[in-house]
Amino acid sequence: MTLVIRSATPEDLTQVGELTAHAYLADDLLSPEDGYLDELRDAVGRAGVGTVLVAVDDGQEGGRQVVGTVTLAQAGSPLAEIAVPGEVELRMLAVAPDARGRGVGEALLRAALAHGTEAGAQRVVLSTLVEMRAAQRMYQRLGLRRVPARDWSVEGYSMVAYTIDL
Ligand SMILES: CC(C)(COP(=O)(O)OP(=O)(O)OC[C@H]1O[C@@H](n2cnc3c(N)ncnc32)[C@H](O)[C@@H]1OP(=O)(O)O)[C@@H](O)C(=O)NCCC(=O)NCCS
Repeated sequence: MTLVIRSATPEDLTQVGELTAHAYLADDLLSPEDGYLDELRDAVGRAGVGTVLVAVDDGQEGGRQVVGTVTLAQAGSPLAEIAVPGEVELRMLAVAPDARGRGVGEALLRAALAHGTEAGAQRVVLSTLVEMRAAQRMYQRLGLRRVPARDWSVEGYSMVAYTIDL
């Protein structure tokens, strides 16, 4: 796999939305009827109010393929759930099921942290579902730490918060 991490172009966004919804469904993180899937699919909306990064496999037969994505939101953005001024929040990290286990998620996370630094943020924050074990191991590996005081829940979903100083 020849991996490139870059900002999404308008042409990427339909694929990004489908990939994000599929990544969550494949792990049974949501039921197919969950209204949140519409938000996951709405990469066009995300790109209008945040920065959508994509991981592209340049080495794939048949051309370039988006294999992963993450969105960065500034505090105060409609996408920010817990960020306060000075923080950038990561949302909707997702890697296509057939591209997992090869470091795509880690590459996206590293690129997102670099982006946050470039944007002048002092800290990155994010929330994960309790069930997202692979994601949480990855966050800990890359030096993010749990902040239980910022855990929250919505509509029966329990979210756990992570942060890292930049
Ligand atoms: C979390 C996620 C982005 C990780 O992406 P990734 O590119 O597989 O990341 P990595 O290659 O660094 O692997 C992460 C872990 O998943 C394991 N893994 C998951 N699926 C795998 C697969 N199909 N094959 C091999 N390993 C897999 C890896 O072995 C690794 O485990 P470890 O932490 O014990 O070493 C991806 O699993 C995903 O999209 N999950 C669903 C959405 C989600 O949970 N998002 C987080 C939002 S907060």
